[in-house]
Amino acid sequence: MSDYLTVVDHPLVQHKLTRMRQKDTPTSDFRRLLREITLLMAYEITREMPMTTNTIETPIEPMDAPVLAGRTPAVVSILRAGNGMLDGVLELVPSAPVGFVGLYRDEETLQPVQYYFKVPEGLDERLVIAVDPMLATGNSSAAAIDLLKKAGARDIRFLCLLAAPEGIERMKEAHPDVHIVTASVDKCLDDRGYIVPGLGDAGDRMFGTQ
Ligand code: URA
Repeated sequence: MSDYLTVVDHPLVQHKLTRMRQKDTPTSDFRRLLREITLLMAYEITREMPMTTNTIETPIEPMDAPVLAGRTPAVVSILRAGNGMLDGVLELVPSAPVGFVGLYRDEETLQPVQYYFKVPEGLDERLVIAVDPMLATGNSSAAAIDLLKKAGARDIRFLCLLAAPEGIERMKEAHPDVHIVTASVDKCLDDRGYIVPGLGDAGDRMFGTQ
């Protein structure tokens, strides 16, 4: 744990992650495990949300009771694999507005190009939880965060399942203010940009498209 990076080492998260890594874990289990892990990780992320008190009446007496302060956090899926993490966050924060960022890599310039961008209003007043299971090279993640900042987001957490050291470095260089929360920092990237040991292509595994 540092100001920049949190690895959620909760035993349930780690056990479920191991099941996700196994190559014979079926699509239906993979999806469910991703949702469950995301919920547990979102719990960690929301731990420091600002609080205030409201005066309420219990059946016994009035009290000043703790409630969340400020606007509901927004969750932003980085397409397409980020969609597999939406339900886990939304189970915990059901009223969270949801945004989507779509980027593809231009094969000539190798730079990320935006093909879709739709985010909730008021990002500047919300905690913004950007979700993408795999922080690999970090190029598309950094570009997605650029777009969110241009749209006004100031308080951003990046929630991923696995991170490669290369991706963490890239994000740290581009967005040192964005806290990364992950379940594991793996060894490295291979020459195709896959995380090692990783879990393969997260999108293919969750949508059954491999
Ligand atoms: N995206 C994936 O889905 N898997 C990786 O290992 C890297 C990027």
